[in-house]
Amino acid sequence: PRVLVLFGGRSGEHAISAATAAGVLRAIDRSRYDVVPVGITPSGEWVLAADEPARWEITAGRLPQVEATGEEVILPLSTGRRDLRVLAPGEVPRVLGEVDVVFPLLHGPYGEDGTLQGMLELADVRYVGAGVLASAVGMDKHYMKLVLAGEGLPIAPYTVIKPGAFERDPEAWTQTVAALGLPVFVKPARAGSSLGISKVDDLADLPAAIAAAQEHDPKVVVEAGVVGREIECAVLGGRGGERPRASLPGEIVVTGEIHDFYDFEAKYLDEAGVELSCPADLPEHLVERVREIAIRTFEAVGAEGLSRVDVFVTPDEQVVVNEINTMPGFTPYSMYPRMWEKSGLSYPELIDELVALALE
Ligand code: DAL
Ligand code: MG
Repeated sequence: PRVLVLFGGRSGEHAISAATAAGVLRAIDRSRYDVVPVGITPSGEWVLAADEPARWEITAGRLPQVEATGEEVILPLSTGRRDLRVLAPGEVPRVLGEVDVVFPLLHGPYGEDGTLQGMLELADVRYVGAGVLASAVGMDKHYMKLVLAGEGLPIAPYTVIKPGAFERDPEAWTQTVAALGLPVFVKPARAGSSLGISKVDDLADLPAAIAAAQEHDPKVVVEAGVVGREIECAVLGGRGGERPRASLPGEIVVTGEIHDFYDFEAKYLDEAGVELSCPADLPEHLVERVREIAIRTFEAVGAEGLSRVDVFVTPDEQVVVNEINTMPGFTPYSMYPRMWEKSGLSYPELIDELVALALE
């Protein structure tokens, strides 16, 4: 099959997406797949990208970026908007020809949020991963919580500050947040990789934390901090009426003193701060509970293909869902592939299975 590996994009997670693509370009079985790498620049141009994994890796703090080449590729769809532009008279487009499946290795808005998935549905192209609704729900922490709670899944107390609301009545909102108990985590509703997230221990810091989140999204979610271990679980499958499978869980162990939570720096730029421990050292009954809750979370949002479900396991053995990521970080060192590796599925096998699921 001809596989279009799509990466980069307009979100703040552009570089993470490129690093994910590096891993896939390196590992995908070239004897089975004809690979077409396409990058999306931060401003939204689609370009034929170098088929050079090393070019797209994150190395020593360098964040890779897709550059415009002056020669955009087009999909068989044109609008006057940014990603799919109308060609100027006489301009010759570079048409990619038919592809069997798109592997959208995109994180964050305009990639992981259902917008791209909707475009691919309209163009009648098969793609890896969640569809329109599940992607949109998984990207928006406000609606994600409504869906998870509605399906009876355990989540932590939270409040949603809609655009402009805090500015209209900061005192009332400060009281609402105080009622959650400190610390709280202040997050943009639609972002990933911890971008724009602050931990607030003192209400005096709340306005600045809200402003930082609003740089990514005018809608802000404030969550009560949960005391517990940060456990993640990989889910795979969910097509053709079969129940998806869950991997062995992994654990985020913060080892450094410098970060007080698993922020963007700790995730991607700091070698020493965090350890991904896999499989997590949990008793069997908790492993099973985490796996079951991960599958139920996947099903609650209607995900397909893959998702990583992040939970807290509290000292009294409650499993509380933090979030679902419908296109989790996917380099060979990322938690998602590593959890499958420990569960008996290698990185190239995982890629095969995801493409096969999309073609099903
Ligand atoms: N949003 C990042 C890529 C993750 O969930 O792994
Ligand atoms: Mg996320």
